[in-house]
Order: sequence, then structure tokens, then C-alpha cells
Amino acid sequence: MRDSVLSIPPFNRLWRALSVSSFGDWLGLLASTALAQQLAGDDYAKANFAIAGVFIVRLIPAVLLGPLAGVLADRFDRRKLMVVTDLMRFSLYLSIPIVGNYFWLYTATLLAETVTLFWSPAKEATVPNLVPRNKLESANQVQLLAAYGTAPLAAIVFSLLALFNSALSGILNWEDSTAADIALYINAFTFLYAAYVVYTLREIPSRSASSEHESSILQSLSTGWRFVGESSIVRGLIIGMIGAFIAAGAVIGLARTFVDDLKAGEAAYGILFGSVFTGLALGITLGPKALAQFSRRRIFGASLTVAGSFLILLSLIQNLVLAILITLILGFFSGISWVTGFTMLGLEVDDQLRGRIFAFIQSLIRVVLILVLAISPLVAAAIGRHTYDVFEVTLTYNGAAFTMLFAGIIATAVGAISYKKMKDRPGISFLADVRSALRGDLGASVNMVTPGLFIAFEGGEGSGKSTQSKLLQEWLENEGIQVVLTREPGGTPLGQGLRSILLSKETGHISPRAEALLYAADRAHHVYSVIQPNLDRGHVVITDRYSDSSIAYQGAGRILSSEEVARISRWATNALTPHLTIILDQAPDIGLARIEDGDRLESEAIDFHERVRDEYSILAGADPDRYLVLDATLDVNELEARVQERVKPLLEARNIGRGL
Ligand code: TYD
Repeated sequence: MRDSVLSIPPFNRLWRALSVSSFGDWLGLLASTALAQQLAGDDYAKANFAIAGVFIVRLIPAVLLGPLAGVLADRFDRRKLMVVTDLMRFSLYLSIPIVGNYFWLYTATLLAETVTLFWSPAKEATVPNLVPRNKLESANQVQLLAAYGTAPLAAIVFSLLALFNSALSGILNWEDSTAADIALYINAFTFLYAAYVVYTLREIPSRSASSEHESSILQSLSTGWRFVGESSIVRGLIIGMIGAFIAAGAVIGLARTFVDDLKAGEAAYGILFGSVFTGLALGITLGPKALAQFSRRRIFGASLTVAGSFLILLSLIQNLVLAILITLILGFFSGISWVTGFTMLGLEVDDQLRGRIFAFIQSLIRVVLILVLAISPLVAAAIGRHTYDVFEVTLTYNGAAFTMLFAGIIATAVGAISYKKMKDRPGISFLADVRSALRGDLGASVNMVTPGLFIAFEGGEGSGKSTQSKLLQEWLENEGIQVVLTREPGGTPLGQGLRSILLSKETGHISPRAEALLYAADRAHHVYSVIQPNLDRGHVVITDRYSDSSIAYQGAGRILSSEEVARISRWATNALTPHLTIILDQAPDIGLARIEDGDRLESEAIDFHERVRDEYSILAGADPDRYLVLDATLDVNELEARVQERVKPLLEARNIGRGL
């Protein structure tokens, strides 16, 4: 895919120019913050503000002028506009180190960003001219790669510049050039290169036909919230993203002083910056694959919480090597929540609203970032430097570390809240989810969206499942609820045939794997033709035995691996899991005593049935939210009452049979 879009020569050239100039831009960002700090000298508060200022001037133009620039940009010849704006950025960045004072650092950055606002829409409008429609998607992908993939590279180069700074300025005869200065020069020249490339790109048509314009930030903020609507998922997601950006903003704004507080220099700053981006990139590319089994809604909140905790950890440690490692992990989990967040937004939000919701979030993110970048140095400076003596070790914590600690706490809390808000399968505990994800169970956590209610009865032989499932059915029917009572094996005509093969003693020995597959075949057809269709109609489906029978009998009983059997069942059922599984538990000898002429399985030795019973309690123990274990020796009516008590809230939650 990627290769194919890059094999279009004009796009390829544009893309290379974009990569080079965004590499330069990252380098320039690192250099500007470093320069801001150098200019502040030894003043801690001043350094914090100076650095925050760099980020603020980079964001302000987009907030204030974004939509306007878009409209204006459409009136010019695109190619000329891009060339001119690139030349302007070249001279602005070149001038920053030459002038070398605060005023010009901010003014030039502000101007360069303003110019960028005109350049971006021209570039956006150009891409569809160079690339056929069906390749736009991959064109976007490679552009993202150019925009963000160059960040770690820039960080590495910046670190190297810092390390070899003295040697370099010796060779080049630049007397007191710092790494920051050199980086700014490089940045300037990347824009010159881009200007040249675009100048030679004759394929770019002069005028745009596009009439789509961004709405203003305030507009999209005010209308956006309405579109977020009632969905608690989208709200959870947005709260989560704000939390993530509060944390990210604090880290971005304070990283420079934080590194300085660790007594580490420019090179360390570059490495730290690079490790965040490497972590992010790893999280974005590997995370979704590694966690494919895991519910997305849960990944989002959970990974945000983990990232927040690592930020707390980062603020507490005082060792550079550890800090780099922690930043890498921090970036990894942030990357995961970032992709899952955006993927989910795409999935949860209706097609027509998607654009507006995305615009709303983009605006929200910018505003949040500016606020955080402006506020966090204030907090950091107000806190100042503090020294503590712990066990004869003197620890110095500075405002930056404290502020990062707060940000970490906020991110952790927000992650936990959005996790709660988005819990998609309230019945299934988080640990059970993690466990099955780690086991690689197929589809362990596929979201179960069905209006119906699915209840399974499980237990050993003669435990009274059939009696209790009938009683539950009668109770529900009396309440006027549509109920289907079914069983395994044999809930379908095909299943009847399988049942007689499986249970008849005449069948003789069946190999354990074959037996497991026959039960799975019965179940697959059962789900397909009876259970799922009835759930989709909003009915209550009660089944006498389901997947757990296979896990207990074929897994633990026959000594296959329980995990393997569970996996086959998940595949067979398309991961359809009961909302509630009721286990009627009793010692096997009691139940077996009730049976006179046992079938093929009932005739198994007593320790087979012991293993079955043990497996049931393991399953229930792993996921208490989703299981109700009852002592089968209790009175029938007592059992019936306990079952009803547990089922009632599940019905209410689904609005089945209102007014129970
Ligand atoms: P059944 O006569 O329905 O027994 P019960 O009344 O105890 O439910 O027979 C089902 C038998 O099949 C039972 O011995 C358990 C066994 N079984 C499995 O071994 N694996 C399975 O997946 C299922 C559904 C049942």
C-alpha cells in the first residue's frame, strides 16, 4: 500500500520534502526550548516560563487564525504560496539564533507558525491533485509517518549535536554556537530544501476548487458538545483524552527543566524526547495487535491509567537511565490509548457526525494544551526547589517534578473514570479480561451487544439444573417475558443426532479431542440457530449447560488443556458468553447416587466428576461478577428465590419486562 502511493513520482517528491521539513521542525522545537532555557540563565522560574512560552506561541496562531488562514490560502496559487511560505520560514528560523534574544525567539516562532497556517491548507489541497482517490488513505498514512516518525530521529540528531557540539563548532569555525543554534540553522535549511522541491513540482495546479473550510475553534467547541450526545462512551473517551493531554502538556512543557533538574544536559533532553516518541510509535503500531483480544473500551482507560502511574513514577525518580526507561513505557501506553481512543471514536460516532466530533476534539485538545502549558510552569515556579533528607540520602525535588506528579495523578484518575464509564461488559471483571487476553483466547472480549439476556445453568450430574432452569423459565413467563429454554447437547435437530452419538454407551470410546469437537459442533449450531437469533429479538435465553461444561468435562475431566477447550468453544460460539452463569454445586457422589443407569459420561469414575466440580469453581472464582454459585443441596424453593434475586437486576439493566 505504502509503496504504491510513494511510487507516484510527484507525490514521492512532495513527501520527501515534507519529511525533511518536519524533521527540521522537530529539531527546531527542541532547539527553541533549549535556547529559551539558556537565555533564562540560572533563574528557575524564568526558565519554566520561557520554555512554556515557546509552546504557547506555537499553538496560539492555530487557535486564533486557523479558519481565516484556510479561507485566505484558497485565493492564492498553491505552489507559489507553498514556496513563499517555506522561504519565509527559512529566513525566520535562520534569524532566531542570529538575533539570539527572547523577544525575537517568540516573535519569529509566532510568525513562522502563522505562515505555517497558510502553508498547511495549500499542502492539504495539493495532495489529492497528485494522488488518485483510492490512494488518498495511504497517502494520509505516509504523511502521518513523515509528520511524527521524524520526531525520534530529530531527537537523536539533537542529542548528537549536543554531544559533539564543541567539536562541530571548532571545525565549522562557529565560535560560540550551541547545539540549539546549529539545530535552528539545520531547521532553516530544511525549509529552503522544501521550497526548492515544491518549486520544481510543476504538477501542482494553481488554484484550488475546494470549498470546505474549517469552522472556527470557538464555533466547533460550542456546537461540538451537542453532538457528543448522550453516549457515555463518547463522553468517557473525551474525558480520557483531555486527561491524557493534560498529562502530555505537563510533560512537554516541563521536560526541559526536569532534565536540567536531573543534572543532565542537552543530549539527555534529546534522548528523553526521543524515547517518548519511540514509545508512542511502538504503542501505536504494536499495541492494537498485541491486545487484539482485549476489549478496546477497556484498553483505553486501562492504558491511560498505566501511563499516568508511570508519569507519577517518573516524577519521583532521580536517575536519568531509569527516567529514559520509564519514559519509553509511558510513551508506549500513551500510544496505545491514543490509537484505541481514535479508533473507537471512529467506530462509536455516526458517519455524519464524525467530522464534527473530530473537529471538536482537535479544538479541545489545542485549548487544553495551551492552558496546561501556560499553567504548569506557574505551578512549577511557585513550588520551587525543595530538598529532603531520607535515610541519609538527600533528595532534591523541584517544581517540575511536583507538577508532573500532579499531572500523573490526574491522568491516572481520569483513566480510571473513563474506564468505569466505558465498561462495556459490566459482568466481566477486568482481571478475567486480562487473563483471557494473555492466554490468547480467541475473541475473549468481543463486545457483546445484544438486547436479550443470556443465562446458562451449569453443574455436575443430578445437580437439579433442569428443575431450576424450568422454574426460572416459568417465573419469567409469568412476568410476561419472552423466554427460550434450551439445552446442550441437543438443542437443535442436528444437536439431537450429536447428542445420541455423544451420550449413547454404544458409541464406545471417543478420542478426547473428537469428543471436544463434537460438543463444540453442537454448540456452534445451537448458538447460530437458536441462541443468537433469540437474543437478537430481545428474548431471554436460558440454556441447560454451555461452554463451561466443555471446559469442565472435556478439559479438566478428560485432561485436555482447559484453555484449549475454552478456545475451541469461543471460536464455535463466536465468543458469545452468557451474561450470567449459575453453577449448582454439590459433591459428585450425591448427584451420581440419584442416577440409576448412567450414560457414557455419567458412568465415568468418581474422580472424573471431582475434577469437573473443581474446574467449575475455578471458572467461577476467576470471574465472580459473571457467576452465581449455589449450593445444590439447598431446598428447591430457596434456590429458586436466589436465582430470581440475581436475575432481576440484569433484566432491569436491559429494560426487559419493565416494572418487575
Ligand atoms: P444430560 O443428560 O443433558 O445431563 P445433565 O442432565 O447432567 O445435564 O447430558 C449431558 C452430558 O454431556 C453430561 O454428562 C455432561 C456432558 N457434556 C460434556 O461433557 N460436555 C459438554 O460440552 C456438554 C454440553 C455436556
